[in-house]
Amino acid sequence: MEFETILLEKAGPIATITLNRPEKLNALNRTVRAELMVALDHLADDEEVKVAILRGAGEKAFVAGADVEEFAARTAAEQRKVYQRRRVYDALAEFPKPIIAAVHGYCLGGGSELALACDLRVADRTARFGQAEIRLGIIPGAGGTQRLARLVGPGQAMRIALSGDTVDADEAYRIGLVEFLTDEGQHLEKAREVAERMARWSPVALRLVKQSVKAALEVPLSAGLDLEKELFLAAFASEDGQEGVRAFVEKRDPEFKGR
Ligand code: COA
Repeated sequence: MEFETILLEKAGPIATITLNRPEKLNALNRTVRAELMVALDHLADDEEVKVAILRGAGEKAFVAGADVEEFAARTAAEQRKVYQRRRVYDALAEFPKPIIAAVHGYCLGGGSELALACDLRVADRTARFGQAEIRLGIIPGAGGTQRLARLVGPGQAMRIALSGDTVDADEAYRIGLVEFLTDEGQHLEKAREVAERMARWSPVALRLVKQSVKAALEVPLSAGLDLEKELFLAAFASEDGQEGVRAFVEKRDPEFKGR
């Protein structure tokens, strides 16, 4: 597929989306957001792809935020209209396969919110996270208070979003904002390693795990446990579930087909 602002590569079961606007530190403008949604929809339907990775091009940034020049050109009514359309953050959060953010350099504002909407974050030592919106007199509008608070707790979310200060990679790891920390430049390799470990398993089971963990953030424990039981039964009834159990008993590797 041909895009203007992103690159899409596939290697076996792993797809990598690269946000490719390095001269603007991969700032999210309308084209980037639209193309990212097209790529996600395409990968959701591609049966060969089991896990996806999201990264930024260039030396300096994963994503330095929403495109501030675009903000500056919009009225409040226009911004409201933009917010009423389908949003890339929701497309990421609803993506049915595991998706890993591989972060280096600046990961600010909408960039941090993109990483938060992914399932996991791998960062190298150059990564700098922050909700910089407060510096512009605005606030996060795509998960930078909500998903952030759920991931690192309300106290750290308050500190990050109220101060506008950046959080370095070590601290991001310490507070649970990233799940893996690597040496400089090793984040993509690590993300691929993590992706490959997941790609061994049934796509049905991967999807159901995602659905179940996400529900844990939305519903009371009793409802979450009920849902988990139903999703377990769906996995158990799937061809892959039958195959996985049979393969264990027969002492062979399972062949998962995604059904
Ligand atoms: N929106 C639009 N353009 C952006 C951008 C953003 N969020 N972040 C960086 N850019 C552009 C810069 O305007 C510059 O473009 P130019 O070369 O045409 O002038 C280019 O990307 C390189 O950025 P620059 O500021 O020169 O790099 P730097 O290393 O000096 O500073 C940052 C890096 C991240 C500290 C700085 O770019 C910055 O503060 N960006 C905005 C961060 C922000 O507020 N994000 C939240 C938005 S809600």
